[in-house]
Amino acid sequence: MAKKKLKVGVIGTGAIADACHLPNWQELEGEGRVELVGVCDLVKDRVETAKEKYGARKAYTSYTKMLKDGDYDIIDVCTQNRPHCAATVAALKAGAHVLVEKPMAMNARECEQMIAAAKSNKRTLMVAQHMRFEAQAEKLKEVVERGDLGRIYTANAKYLRRRGIPGWGKFHIRKESLGGPLIDIGVHVMDLCIWLMGCPKPVAASGKVYRMFGDRPDLCNADWGTPYPPKQFDVEDYATAFVRFEKGITMNVECSWAANIPEETGAVSVLGDKAGISTEPAGVYGYDGSALTSVKYDWLPNQEGHRMEVRHFTECIEKKKPVRVQPVESLRVQKIIDAIYESSKKNKEIVIK
Ligand SMILES: NC(=O)c1ccc[n+]([C@@H]2O[C@H](COP(=O)([O-])OP(=O)(O)OC[C@H]3O[C@@H](n4cnc5c(N)ncnc54)[C@H](O)[C@@H]3O)[C@@H](O)[C@H]2O)c1
Repeated sequence: MAKKKLKVGVIGTGAIADACHLPNWQELEGEGRVELVGVCDLVKDRVETAKEKYGARKAYTSYTKMLKDGDYDIIDVCTQNRPHCAATVAALKAGAHVLVEKPMAMNARECEQMIAAAKSNKRTLMVAQHMRFEAQAEKLKEVVERGDLGRIYTANAKYLRRRGIPGWGKFHIRKESLGGPLIDIGVHVMDLCIWLMGCPKPVAASGKVYRMFGDRPDLCNADWGTPYPPKQFDVEDYATAFVRFEKGITMNVECSWAANIPEETGAVSVLGDKAGISTEPAGVYGYDGSALTSVKYDWLPNQEGHRMEVRHFTECIEKKKPVRVQPVESLRVQKIIDAIYESSKKNKEIVIK
């Protein structure tokens, strides 16, 4: 008997859907594993273009209508942050498994609603944290799981751009995205870092966020898309934070869309009493009793994280396997983000429950 093809729908056909999700669904359709049934975007031209380009059967401008119209196995939510929760909950209630772009939602309360909807509808939910699917990250996770680091005590998560404020979409508008680089790119490195540390439970965070450049008309933000009107920019463009976990483990966080720094980076490092790991340059750094040792993983072939993440999610649905990015882990990252914004406002450390 022919294997059942999973019916897929994509909500939001903007930049990330076009660059990283729809091409991967199209590839899986070519392999006979899925069928791209519906695409949806509020912008009619955009969704019609996506339908033509990726051969979806139908295009919609309302996800409520799309969900009513089709019997979806998988819904992939690629809207800007604000609709993540509502679209995800609607899709779960309609009986679909959901892959949702990062950040999980606008706050921890919304994440909890999404988790509850997944549980009550017995559906799978995963946040698209593609950095966990890159070859070097997978290799470093193996090293950690073998216990090569010894006792892990601290970590660093940095994602710094010198001038890289997204010029497209609604990233710069608080009510659409909640915040700037902390929730946009900080979420990537924090998630990767905490996963590599073995997912310790966060207990407190303190931080400060700054808006120094984003609302300036003289910002030099070359090559980052059509410039947004500077007056609309009401999120931060730099964030720094210190996070405490159970058992005295800590993490430093720093991220920017714009800062006067010499070099851009997106690096995570985790330190243990036997060895440390870093993603930049990817490797394991230790001491063998007589010399300092460095084992480099920068020779690994490039493995496109987004592609692997979409394939992983599909395989988990096909084979009823647990997903790599558990929703409760994404909820914890969101709690850290919420605590950092609150800490910045109140100028004090915030306890995370
Ligand atoms: N994983 C990554 O590397 C990565 C990179 C970029 C963006 N993202 C995330 O992906 C999401 C989208 O980012 P983007 O760059 O594609 O933004 P975008 O603005 O280009 O696309 C978002 C699309 O969603 C549509 N939309 C909004 N509300 C909708 C609704 N209710 N129903 C249907 N469509 C709706 C918009 O019209 C727009 O076309 C964000 O949450 C962002 O954080 C992830």
